[in-house]
Amino acid sequence: MFLRSLSHAVILGAVALGAMALPAVAQDRITIKFSHVVTADAPKGKAAEYFKRLVEERTNGRVVVEVYPNSQLYKDKEEIEALQLGAVQLLAPAYAKLGSMGLREFEVFDLPYLFDSMADAQKVTQGPIGQELLKKAESRGITGLAFWDNSFKQMTANRPLRTPEDFKGLKLRIQSSKVLDAQMRALNALPQVLAFSEVYQALQTGVVDGQENPFSNIYTQKFHEVQKALTVTNHGYHGYLLLTNKRFWDELPVELRGVLTTAIKDSTAYFNSIAKQDDDAALDAIRKSGKTDIVELTPQEKAGLKKALLPVHKMMAARVGDGLIKSIYKATGFDPSRF
Ligand code: LMR
Repeated sequence: MFLRSLSHAVILGAVALGAMALPAVAQDRITIKFSHVVTADAPKGKAAEYFKRLVEERTNGRVVVEVYPNSQLYKDKEEIEALQLGAVQLLAPAYAKLGSMGLREFEVFDLPYLFDSMADAQKVTQGPIGQELLKKAESRGITGLAFWDNSFKQMTANRPLRTPEDFKGLKLRIQSSKVLDAQMRALNALPQVLAFSEVYQALQTGVVDGQENPFSNIYTQKFHEVQKALTVTNHGYHGYLLLTNKRFWDELPVELRGVLTTAIKDSTAYFNSIAKQDDDAALDAIRKSGKTDIVELTPQEKAGLKKALLPVHKMMAARVGDGLIKSIYKATGFDPSRF
């Protein structure tokens, strides 16, 4: 009797083990490392967590997404190299960071006052021009997956920036984009490239005098606590390109790539639905904090800044592509002669 039950136990044990082993063998767990430089409660941080939830639910945990916010794993420049090496599988850098890896066309989005509204920007990012640009990202070992339309950039500094004259001689932090370099030089400011994770301290210690970002980044990074004035310029569109490692993506089992593609579509819709409301809530919170002066431009002051910055479009046409700029003007009805 005892022997019989012992043999049963052994058989059952073996079957159970076998059963457990079988699915694991057939369906190895896949880990996606998603690295980014903003906080977990900034729009990109929330969308990364949303993506994680969708993917893990829809694959019953077969795909695990590890999200690393706040440059925990890599800073701006390093994260792109890490993606190309396959050390991480997902990133969502701002377009401004793509020029330094040879994708100069994406710096077109840094052109000052290119879009009058997010609706105009999305005519490009979510339309045929965006699709063409995604194909361009199909190089250098990466694959472009989606555009996440964040918001518009504002200026912070220790004085209001109402006129081009107010920018003169200021050391202003920029992302590693030649277009942003030209934008600041057009205002006689001194552009300084710094990794996002270094900006707060550089503002606090005076290494730089100011910076540009949407309200949601200014608030979540506490830049408003170390800057006397936030000038509402809306001078530049700010968004992200969701990127993956091409080999990782191409070698995924087809059915899993399908699940991930749908999760990316849903996370993009989620991101684009929260970005504006988070940005408005950030402005409210900054205003309530009373820690920095919110400076609203008059229509004349805004026109003055636009006039000073529009020449940057022509200056950068050779770098980003004159044809691309013209196709964006056509898609949005942008008329430079209005300035
Ligand atoms: C910056 O570097 O200023 C931002 O683009 C960072 C980010 O990813 O939002």
